[in-house]
Amino acid sequence: MTANSRLTTPFTARSTAAEILDGVDLTGRRMIVTGGASGIGVETVRALARAGAEVTIATRDPRRADALVEEFASGATRGVVSASALDLADLASVDAFVAGWQGPLDVLVANAGIMAIPTRQLTAQGWELQLATNYLGHFALARGLHDNLRAAEAARVVVVSSGAHLAAPLDFDDPQFERRPYDPWSAYGQSKTAEVLLAVGISRRWAEDGITANALNPGYIFTNLQRHIDDDTMRAMGAMDEAGNLIEADYYKKPDQGASTTVLLAGSPLLDGIGGRYFDDNQEAEVVPGGPDATGGVAAHALDPAAADRLWAYAEKTLAAR
Ligand SMILES: NC(=O)c1ccc[n+]([C@@H]2O[C@H](COP(=O)([O-])OP(=O)(O)OC[C@H]3O[C@@H](n4cnc5c(N)ncnc54)[C@H](OP(=O)(O)O)[C@@H]3O)[C@@H](O)[C@H]2O)c1
Repeated sequence: MTANSRLTTPFTARSTAAEILDGVDLTGRRMIVTGGASGIGVETVRALARAGAEVTIATRDPRRADALVEEFASGATRGVVSASALDLADLASVDAFVAGWQGPLDVLVANAGIMAIPTRQLTAQGWELQLATNYLGHFALARGLHDNLRAAEAARVVVVSSGAHLAAPLDFDDPQFERRPYDPWSAYGQSKTAEVLLAVGISRRWAEDGITANALNPGYIFTNLQRHIDDDTMRAMGAMDEAGNLIEADYYKKPDQGASTTVLLAGSPLLDGIGGRYFDDNQEAEVVPGGPDATGGVAAHALDPAAADRLWAYAEKTLAAR
């Protein structure tokens, strides 16, 4: 394979996280999974830990992870799981989490996210909530843990983005929706473009530290992510019938399938030395123009190195001004 050829794997859209890591030994690898107490995060933690990793779930309320921590507590199952408090929308919480992390960090999985918040909400710092949670919080976390990632020598950062990035390039003139009308989906999509650009930015800056970063789209999975979508919108999306029952289309994945591309990037030897790329259904995605009609692949606007550098500078300036 040359440096620029698309990476393919023997796995499919239907592969489960456990299948991806079958035969892979992650013993001794220290990992953080944000949002690891819900949805695809749970299956990500479970698969990585069962392969032997020492996984810390970063969640706003560590009690939500009790059952998952308990699953590994007896020692009967391989792997170690613990939970620590982290609110990505609160920089003081990010700082506290970083300060509490000691020693090398082999893998940071930026999985936590919120979607389609109906109205423009602001964090304590005055930042639009989706950009703040999905992108700025993860930027601050990764930057804060840079030394720990470097110390691991061949660390990986995995950023869980979404196909929603396809329709929403970064609006550098108004990233916080201060002048343009707020739109829940544009704000979500833009934050997901920002997350792909985070992976590109990390790869560009930290490769000399042995750190690689890639982004992914997990596919469609019913989880708590849909909690802010009203029933009419769910029906318009074809995801709910008139009686309020969820309709799981053929292309929907179960959570353990939705976690598969994440664990591929986090733990598979197939990804050794690979960085700055975007994957879905366990393959590297095709680069497409992007826009409202794009249905698959990765938009060129999300892999653009100039946009990644510009966004990095924006994030540094925004964090410095808090
Ligand atoms: N499900 C899908 O169809 C789909 C499709 C494309 C992309 N994705 C992406 O996949 C990722 C995981 O989503 P999911 O579907 O598993 O949804 P989920 O069940 O809602 O899990 C998301 C997690 O994000 C965490 N979170 C939200 N706000 C946070 C904050 N301020 N600080 C820290 N953690 C926060 C929540 O953790 P706590 O509440 O425990 O803190 C929650 O566990 C997201 O990034 C999402 O955008 C999902």
